[in-house]
Amino acid sequence: MALRNIRTEGDPILGKISKPILEMSDKTKQLIGDMLETMYHANGVGLAAVQVGVLKRIVVIDVSEEGNSPIILINPEIIDKSGSQTGDEGCLSVPGKSGKVTRAMKVKVKAFNEKMELFELEGEELLARAIQHEVDHLDGILYTSKVEGNLNTDEEQ
Ligand code: NI
Repeated sequence: MALRNIRTEGDPILGKISKPILEMSDKTKQLIGDMLETMYHANGVGLAAVQVGVLKRIVVIDVSEEGNSPIILINPEIIDKSGSQTGDEGCLSVPGKSGKVTRAMKVKVKAFNEKMELFELEGEELLARAIQHEVDHLDGILYTSKVEGNLNTDEEQ
C-alpha cells in the first residue's frame, strides 16, 4: 500500500462524475488499499477515489474511534433516507475548514464489496453523514455547496 496525494478544492477533478466499477482488478484492489491508508494517515472518516484523482465510484469510510472498522462501498447507491441531522462537516479535500450541513439522520445504501458481491448497509448519525458526504463526491459535489451559513476556519490548523 502507498499514500496517495489528496486533491484539494479548486482541482477541477473534484467536480467530475465518477464511473462505475464493472469488475474487480488488481489495480482497483491496490487503489482501495491505498485509499484506506491515505484516509487513516490523514485522520479522516471517509475518502472517495476522486479525492486521490481516480474517477471511479469507490468510497472508504471508518467512523470507529479505534480506526479498525473499514467500510468499502463500490458503486454505492442510497436507496432509503429518513430523518434529519444538522451538524459540522469537514472534508480532507477542504483542509482546515468546516461548516454546518443538514443531512438525513439515517440512510440505507446498496453497494458492492471488494469481491463485487452486492450488499446493503444501514447507517445513522455520523455513519449516515459520512455515506451521504462520500456518495456526493462521486457525483462531483463538495459539502461546501451545502453549507448553511459560513464556512469556518478550524482553529487548530
Ligand atoms: Ni469529503
